[in-house]
Amino acid sequence: MSLRMLVFLGSTREGRMGENVAKCVVNLLSEVKHEVELIDPLKIGGDGHVHQPMHFYRDQNDVPEWMIETNNKIVNANAYVIVTPEYNCGLPPALTSVLDNFPPASYRHKPCGIVCYSMGSFGGIRAASFARPFLSELGMVSTPSACVIPQVVGKFSDEGECNDERIKNNLEKVVKEISWYGRAMEEMRSKEGVPS
Ligand SMILES: Cc1cc2nc3c(=O)[nH]c(=O)nc-3n(C[C@H](O)[C@H](O)[C@H](O)COP(=O)(O)O)c2cc1C
Repeated sequence: MSLRMLVFLGSTREGRMGENVAKCVVNLLSEVKHEVELIDPLKIGGDGHVHQPMHFYRDQNDVPEWMIETNNKIVNANAYVIVTPEYNCGLPPALTSVLDNFPPASYRHKPCGIVCYSMGSFGGIRAASFARPFLSELGMVSTPSACVIPQVVGKFSDEGECNDERIKNNLEKVVKEISWYGRAMEEMRSKEGVPS
C-alpha cells in the first residue's frame, strides 16, 4: 500500500546539513513508492517561527492561506518522519515551530519516524529523546527505531546520497517501520475509524 508521507525538516540555518539528510529520507521513501512531500520551514510560508498557531486564531477567516494548505497536507498524510538536528541539548525551534503551528487533531493517530543528526559524536540522540514526548503530545505514535547520525558533515551529497553503509541501513530500517506502522494504522482507520 502506497502511503502519503510528510518529512518535516527541523532546520532553517544557512548552510544547514538537514537539507541533504531530508533529501535522502525523501528519496528512500519514494523508492518504496510512497507519495512523499518535504515540509521545509523556509518554504511553506511564514518566517519559520511560531507566532499565532492556526487553531488559536480568534477569527478562523484570518488564518493565512499557507497555513490552511499545510494543515490540509498534514491531515491528508498517513504518516510522518521528522529530520531533526540537536540544538543545545534539545529540539530545534524550527521543528517545534512548524509542528506547533497546527492543531494536534491534524496529526492524531498517525505514526512518526525519527531521524536525528549532529556534527558531534552523539548524533543528536538527546533531540530524539525529547522528540518522543513532544510527538506524543501532538497525538502521534513515534516508531521504535530512530536513525541517529553522528558527524553528519560529508555523509550526504547535495542529491541526498548517503555514503555511510551503517547509516543507510538504519535509515532503511526507519523507512520499513514507518511503512509498517503507517499501513497498520491506515487499515484500522479505514476499517473502524479512530477512537473518539
Ligand atoms: C544553535 C545550535 C546549537 C547546537 N547545539 C548542539 C548540541 O546541543 N549538541 C550537538 O551535538 N550539536 C549541536 N549543534 C551542532 C549541530 O549538531 C550542527 O551544527 C548541525 O549541523 C545542525 O544542523 P543543521 O546544520 O541542519 O542546522 C548546535 C548547533 C547550533 C546551530
